[in-house]
Amino acid sequence: MLRRIASYLKGYEKYAVASPLLVVLETGCELTIPLLMAQIINQGILKEDMAPIWRSGALMVVVAVIATFAGGMAAKCATNAAQGLGANLRQAEFEKISSFSFADIDRFSSSSLITRMTNDVTKIQNMAMICLRILIRAGTMLIASVVLTLTISPKLALVVLVILPVMAAALLTIMRICMPLFEKMQKALDHLNETVQENLIAVRVVKSYVREDREREKFMDANDGFTAAGLRAVLRVVAMQPVMMICMASATVLALYFGGNMVLGLELDVGYLQTVLGYIMQILMSVMFVGMAILQYTQAQASTRRIFEVLDAQPTISGGGERELPAPQGRVEFRDVAFRYQTEGAGEDVLRNINLDIKPGEFVAIVGGTGTGKSSLVNLIPRFYDVHRGKVLVDGLDVRDYPLDGLRGRIGMVLQNNVLFSGTIRENLLWGNENATEEELIQAAKDAQAYDFIMSFPEGFDTYLEQGGVNVSGGQKQRLCIARAMVRKPAVLILDDSTSAVDSATEGRIRESFRQNLKGTTVIIIAQRISSVQYADKIVVLDEGTVSATGTHDELMAASKIYKEIYDSQQEGGGENG
Ligand SMILES: Nc1ncnc2c1ncn2[C@@H]1O[C@H](COP(=O)(O)OP(=O)(O)OP(=O)(O)O)[C@@H](O)[C@H]1O
Ligand SMILES: [Mg+2]
Repeated sequence: MLRRIASYLKGYEKYAVASPLLVVLETGCELTIPLLMAQIINQGILKEDMAPIWRSGALMVVVAVIATFAGGMAAKCATNAAQGLGANLRQAEFEKISSFSFADIDRFSSSSLITRMTNDVTKIQNMAMICLRILIRAGTMLIASVVLTLTISPKLALVVLVILPVMAAALLTIMRICMPLFEKMQKALDHLNETVQENLIAVRVVKSYVREDREREKFMDANDGFTAAGLRAVLRVVAMQPVMMICMASATVLALYFGGNMVLGLELDVGYLQTVLGYIMQILMSVMFVGMAILQYTQAQASTRRIFEVLDAQPTISGGGERELPAPQGRVEFRDVAFRYQTEGAGEDVLRNINLDIKPGEFVAIVGGTGTGKSSLVNLIPRFYDVHRGKVLVDGLDVRDYPLDGLRGRIGMVLQNNVLFSGTIRENLLWGNENATEEELIQAAKDAQAYDFIMSFPEGFDTYLEQGGVNVSGGQKQRLCIARAMVRKPAVLILDDSTSAVDSATEGRIRESFRQNLKGTTVIIIAQRISSVQYADKIVVLDEGTVSATGTHDELMAASKIYKEIYDSQQEGGGENG
């Protein structure tokens, strides 16, 4: 796993290599300072000679300057490496997610994908920082201090030998207790993130249903859960402190006792006693730091797993190979299609036995009660989802045999919950076709009955739309979405309930301009109001996932009970409210 993460250091390798080297240099310098100190005491102070004091003192300054410089550079390199790693991971995740089909996104849920791209990446960044600096530093300190203590006085090294196992055992126990607690803390954080994200994404709904109190409670629960989990874990980590203090104090007492005896017995210079004492402290501290680094590493492992889960996911929909594509005509066929969503729990067929033949240039309407599968049906055409059985053909070729851009390029789709992006109206329309000319943009806007209101804004096509298009009305947004799809000049134009917020008169004008300007284009419209579709060449009535009837308005009025019921229900109360 570590090696795999390291592969995302691409472009930042030099920092990742330089940082540990600099840390080793820094640590090395720091370790020589007690040695120089010993020299000052042994050769200078004890022998009352100033020369060695000056010499070692000057050397100490040089070493300290080098240590500071190396430390600073190490921090800079480690930061660069960690940030670069994070950037690469986010980039890789983003690219992967872009290739996801709707079904893949359903599976992960978008709020979890956001957490995986932000929070989890930060965790790994922190881990990289800790590995590159603290772990290397502690490791170097540990090894060097042990070696130096052994060379100066193997006898005193015995003190370490006694204390170290006790301390390691204590630390291990604490870590073993804390590890699962940290995992719980991570889960609580996920839950908290989910609550916040869901709330922010749907803030308008929350407010309109005056659900703030309930949502606040939900947040408080999640927040309290996270705080409690955090406290449980951290309070136990804090126990490390007294353990360390006891170990260090005992080590000092032992070292002073044995060392003092050795000095009195002239086995050891008094200056070295001081030095060894310093090293022993370093050894104990290093062990603690290594322990903490391991703790961080295990915490980051959960994040790593979650990120790789995304990176390893096989997009369930990928385009067919390159091939000669049929000329765009706008023919759409469904052959014995059955479809179901793969999300957990939903195993039922949402669509069954669908057979449809939509000819080039036809104007087809799909009507039916809510939840009968209308959106699901049209989502199969641009292959947002794959059929479960049967096949969908566009211009005679199975949609699974098209490269995705080749297929979607000939389809203009206005989704039921369509969104605009932050940017100007022009930029949004150019999504349809980035090479569209000004005239084409204007024509599309006119066809979608959007031109007049666009021009009524002081800045016209350069009007800035806020994220999600919140600063235009629902009906305006729908018309902009239609215009965006029309800029593409698609062979098949699909409108999923896209004029529901537009008044009937404007809707009529949109229909009329389709009729005049989109002669060769196949138009598939899902509508709630029969009045919007009764002039269609063909009306498909969906009922509980199957085609219950097809025909013109007059034919269906005579033959389809469901259709007549919908029609009649809409006539009551004076029809729609314009
Ligand atoms: N992403 C999804 N995952 C799982 N089930 C889904 C998903 N989208 C829709 N469904 C289910 O599929 C069925 C058909 O939904 P669909 O959106 O196609 O209905 P619809 O006819 O477009 O309804 P409406 O008129 O309300 O837009 C519903 O029972 C719905 O619960
Ligand atoms: Mg729908």
